[in-house]
Parts: sequence; C-alpha cells; structure tokens
Amino acid sequence: MAYRPLTYSDYEQYVSVINEFRKTEFTAQQFNDVLDYVKKTGDIWIYVEEGKILATGTIFFERKLIFNTCTLAHIEDVCVISEKRGLGLGKKMVKYLFEQAKARGCYKVTLDCNDHNVGFYESCGLGKRGNQMCELISNL
Ligand SMILES: CC(C)(COP(=O)(O)OP(=O)(O)OC[C@H]1O[C@@H](n2cnc3c(N)ncnc32)[C@H](O)[C@@H]1OP(=O)(O)O)[C@@H](O)C(=O)NCCC(=O)NCCS
Repeated sequence: MAYRPLTYSDYEQYVSVINEFRKTEFTAQQFNDVLDYVKKTGDIWIYVEEGKILATGTIFFERKLIFNTCTLAHIEDVCVISEKRGLGLGKKMVKYLFEQAKARGCYKVTLDCNDHNVGFYESCGLGKRGNQMCELISNL
C-alpha cells in the first residue's frame, strides 16, 4: 500500500486525476497555494503504484468548541482513475481517510455526495444522517 500526502511535484498527474472527477483548471502556482492552505487543517492523500496516482481523497479537520472542543472530519474529492474503478480502491481510500480521522480523535466523519454515489459510501460504512442545507452563491 503506498498512500502518501500530495506534494508540489505531483501537480501534472493530479490535474489529470482530478479531471476524471470534475473538469477543472489551475496553474502550478495555484496548486501549490491550495496545497499549502489545505495542509494547515488536513491533507490531500493519494494512492500510488509504480509512480502512478491511482486514487485520491481529501480530509479536513474542523476544531469545534461544542462537545468539549471536539474535532470533526470532512471528506472531499474522492476519485479513482477510470481504468482502476471497481477494484476496491475507492473503498480503501475512504477507509484510509477514516483512519486519519480516528488518529486525530475525531468524533464524526461527514461528506456530501450526489445520488449516484450514495451506494458507494454506504458500502464504505457511511449512512444518511440529518439534512444538508445549501444555498448556491454561484454556479461553478
Ligand atoms: C466513486 C468512486 C470513488 C468509487 O471508487 P471505486 O474504486 O470504483 O469503488 P470500489 O471498487 O472501491 O467500490 C466499493 C463498493 O462500492 C460499490 N460502488 C462503487 N461505486 C458505486 C456507485 N456509484 N453506486 C453504488 N455502489 C457503488 C461497489 O460495487 C463496491 O461494493 P462492494 O464493497 O459491496 O463490493 C469512483 O467511481 C470514482 O472515482 N468516481 C468519480 C469521482 C466521484 O464521483 N467521486 C465521488 C465524490 S463524492
């Protein structure tokens, strides 16, 4: 298993991987800036085999004052490259992110997904709880 945090040198490969989730453009400088920002409160993890990124997932840690200063984890942008889907890599990435959350003492892990991916996250052990309230400030 070769999980590691994303680094500046992963720019070109990560652009390609994350575009298999959502079409997006960013320069190397923007990539570095966002990476620095994310690493203050979490990390972008990648699963690599023979130098190739096969899967990624992001985790953020939110410190709260309620519940006696608990920490809440947010999972974002889980993606497996198309040629490796259906082989269990997505589930392993989510489990790996759960381990990060447990190691940080988080009391809960939460994420948003579209209807299409509900079954995937259920197979990872997550369940629907509460309601997501949302107002789109702009359409990306
Ligand atoms: C969603 C995604 C990460 C799943 O990764 P994957 O490696 O193909 O999934 P896995 O092989 O680990 O599947 C794990 C389980 O989920 C199930 N599953 C996978 N995708 C599913 C889906 N869309 N709906 C229902 N079940 C699904 C599998 O059948 C498997 O079930 P099992 O454990 O009972 O055998 C991958 O399809 C992907 O990268 N999609 C594009 C990006 C994306 O939409 N990411 C989600 C962001 S919210």
